[in-house]
Amino acid sequence: MQIKNLMAVLACGAAGMAVLAGVAGCPGQQPVTCGGAVCGAGQVCVDDMCVAGTECGSDVCTTGETCVNDACVADSDLCGNDVCTTGQTCVNDVCVDNSSLCGNDVCDANEVCVNDMCVVGVACGNDVCTNGEACNNGVCEPESTGGDAAAGQAVFSANCQACHAADGSGGIGPDIRDFTAQEVQDGFNSAAIHSSLTVTLTAQDFADISAFLDTSASS
Ligand code: HEC
Repeated sequence: MQIKNLMAVLACGAAGMAVLAGVAGCPGQQPVTCGGAVCGAGQVCVDDMCVAGTECGSDVCTTGETCVNDACVADSDLCGNDVCTTGQTCVNDVCVDNSSLCGNDVCDANEVCVNDMCVVGVACGNDVCTNGEACNNGVCEPESTGGDAAAGQAVFSANCQACHAADGSGGIGPDIRDFTAQEVQDGFNSAAIHSSLTVTLTAQDFADISAFLDTSASS
């Protein structure tokens, strides 16, 4: 190896090496002229002076800083490769909107947040329904296993037919013959007029009523 090449390799290879005047450049690199000098590894040229750092847009990041979107960011402010904005929190190296936070966690799609903890289930009033449970008016109940039309007819004629007719085709209340169990439940629970009724119905009752209504479906 010729002495000239050896000098170039030394200047390029040694990290933090100070300015080595007279070295033409590094193999495979453009020669950096900086005030007549050549900056060493880990240095960039600022105002004709070699400074330790890495170029970052129009800025130069120093030790303890990282370049994010052409801006130098203190490593302590980093969240993965990102920087969280106001109203965000860093969770497992990802910026998360504070509104989606659950304690220090983010819940999966099949989870709900209970007392700052993610729990598998569906929110239901102050409760969380897990597998095999359905939400009925803010209370978790065992999911109905299918409706019993005879049981449904008994509940319906005792509590509903006065207003919805014996077959559900409507009177004071609307025609609900084509309603699914869920629709009967939601409609019953949300219509204010029913709050005057003293009857308490379970998810199974609604499934039974729906099964009964199916026997007199409008179509
Ligand atoms: C006192 C009369 C009355 C009784 C009894 C009654 N309903 Fe109703 N129901 C109504 C009226 C009136 C409406 C329409 C309310 C509204 O639109 O705000 C209604 C609406 C509904 C709806 C919603 C329909 C829709 O279009 O969304 C459902 C479902 C329903 N009732 C089911 C029942 C069931 C099941 C029972 C018995 C357990 C029952 N109702 C008992 C009067 C009654």
